[in-house]
Amino acid sequence: MHNRFFKNKPFYLAPMAELSHRALRELIEEFGGCDAYFTEMISANALFSGGPYEKWYIDTLPNPQKCVFQLVGADSDALAKAAAYLDSFECAGIDLNMGCSAPLIRKTGAGAAWMASIDRSGELISKLRPQVKRRLSVKLRIGFKDDFEYLVRFCRRLEQEGVELITLHPRLVSEKFKRLAKWEYVARLKNELKIPVAGNGDISSAQDFIRRAQGNCDAVMVGRAAVQMPWIFAQAREIEKEDNSNTCLPSPQAQAEHDLQKQFLEYSAVETLKGARKRVPPNVFAGRAPPALEEIGIRFLELLSIHQPPDFHISRAKRFFGFFCDNLKWGNYLKNQINREESLSGIEKVWKEHFKTASTIPDSHPENL
Ligand SMILES: Cc1cc2nc3c(=O)[nH]c(=O)nc-3n(C[C@H](O)[C@H](O)[C@H](O)COP(=O)(O)O)c2cc1C
Repeated sequence: MHNRFFKNKPFYLAPMAELSHRALRELIEEFGGCDAYFTEMISANALFSGGPYEKWYIDTLPNPQKCVFQLVGADSDALAKAAAYLDSFECAGIDLNMGCSAPLIRKTGAGAAWMASIDRSGELISKLRPQVKRRLSVKLRIGFKDDFEYLVRFCRRLEQEGVELITLHPRLVSEKFKRLAKWEYVARLKNELKIPVAGNGDISSAQDFIRRAQGNCDAVMVGRAAVQMPWIFAQAREIEKEDNSNTCLPSPQAQAEHDLQKQFLEYSAVETLKGARKRVPPNVFAGRAPPALEEIGIRFLELLSIHQPPDFHISRAKRFFGFFCDNLKWGNYLKNQINREESLSGIEKVWKEHFKTASTIPDSHPENL
């Protein structure tokens, strides 16, 4: 892995409804952070309905200059008004959701529905562009059909109208999460555009992250794996740093050390999940040893109770633990138990109980293969 050109490509947290909010950002920051945090999608219409949740949606902490608001909507006037409003806060930019495949969203003409018409989308961007002084970006999928030429024409129009970054989740709208993301589309799209192209989809480990960053893309975005492993960005950076320090004609001895260190980093990732603090060198996670999995879960519940409105606590905790439990051998059983709870304290009790009684070795650990 001796490619000096992938060094420091930006790593992004994906926008995820009910997940990409301040509590998760705080947790990721505690491990060392990432380069941009896309928020969960914010409905342009709902933003001005005077609802009680607005202040939670516009919370850009703990790192406003890295926060990208993602907007969803079908009405170009409402989107332009919402974009101007959100742009008035300190943030990294405004992103437009043109990729959401959920039928409820698409039926209204929002999300991936925009991809059905190049002109409608071009006109939307021309309306939005003057309202946004910060970076204006779009997140999308391949489209309704496997038609690369159409995707290129669509993205070129966005580029002409002033979009500055495109994130491609390379699946068809109809595929939802089926089949594998077609990362070759990210590389091909990047060759066709002047603006940066970020790739997103199916990254499941820090090693995977680095592999994608080495490919033909300008940035790498991760969603589900960042919920399951909030330390994934920090871990990927550490592996990257270590790989890049060996880019100049390594001597056989340096190469041997490099390989050993790499094996150790991979091993320590597994150890982290086991909660074996003392075996993880302090430099692996932004200058400090990572806490054990049990502690991370409890910390998330604490952050959730502080940084999200009470009405959202249970649904968001269940969403989070739905992914977080995938680190554990008895994860599915535990998920079901958590899903039966009706309070954060109940979830915490079940979570703690699990660690008293069950093995914490993840399924991926060599002992379980
Ligand atoms: C629970 C959940 C909610 C999501 N919400 C959004 C969203 O609000 N906006 C959006 O553009 N994509 C959304 N996505 C899609 C992700 O941003 C991302 O494109 C997708 O999960 C693929 O990346 P991954 O394989 O790294 O998870 C969501 C995905 C999940 C799993």
